[in-house]
Amino acid sequence: MEVVIAPAAELARLAADAVEGLLRSNPETVLGLATGSSPLAVYDELATRHKEGLSFARARAFMLDEYVGLPADHPERYRNVIEKEFASRVDLPAGAVQGPDGLAADLPAACAAYEASIQDAGGVDLQLLGIGTDGHIAFNEPGSSLASRTRIKTLTRQTREDNARFFGGSVDDVPRHCLTQGLATIMSARHLVLLASGRAKAEAVHQLVEGPVSAMWPATIMQLHPHATVLVDDAAASRLQLADYYRQTYADKPDWQGL
Ligand code: GLP
Repeated sequence: MEVVIAPAAELARLAADAVEGLLRSNPETVLGLATGSSPLAVYDELATRHKEGLSFARARAFMLDEYVGLPADHPERYRNVIEKEFASRVDLPAGAVQGPDGLAADLPAACAAYEASIQDAGGVDLQLLGIGTDGHIAFNEPGSSLASRTRIKTLTRQTREDNARFFGGSVDDVPRHCLTQGLATIMSARHLVLLASGRAKAEAVHQLVEGPVSAMWPATIMQLHPHATVLVDDAAASRLQLADYYRQTYADKPDWQGL
């Protein structure tokens, strides 16, 4: 696992560099997209690079998760969030972004179909991730099976409180259920790039990088991934025991070596 501690703008550039590098070597790259505030600067950077000529015309993308039951036109429906924040700002073709169907009549069947679509696309090349204050990735809350696949989950009170800011501050308006890629689904992606900023994420980041692998902190499964990159600002890195070592390692890294 590589840990990079840097200002937020640099982190976004590094993640965008990794996406751009993939697209330049393979225009049919399969991206994994995350919602939440953490990846927004990456989407801004990629939109800028698209204006400068970077094309997503042959790429595809899969979303991590979706609320259950939000109406199709709800602005916080993750499919709409990704459309607004990213897909509509680049040249991804219509239908190139897929997500779990939180409005399906048969939710378990929708989850199984979603897993099949990811596999049919050849898997995800680079998965962007944020992390919840309780250590969740996607919506894999504490206690999630480390071998889980896309399924229905119940959101914790903490996650609903964290996300209430997107629902006018009202916890009651945050859905109670979601469909989420499982931890094993996420682990199947070929490169994981997680972004975190702010002191509220410091404990989750410490557990993710330095804690024991445990369903109590679901992101810790990333320690078992052969190519995982953790991009954090100073505040999110403030509880890392080996922060000095990570800083030195990154400072000594050769210029030619990407993430
Ligand atoms: C939600 C999303 C996660 C995201 C998390 C953190 O719960 N389902 O994918 O990582 O929020 O969000 P933020 O980046 O806004 O802190």
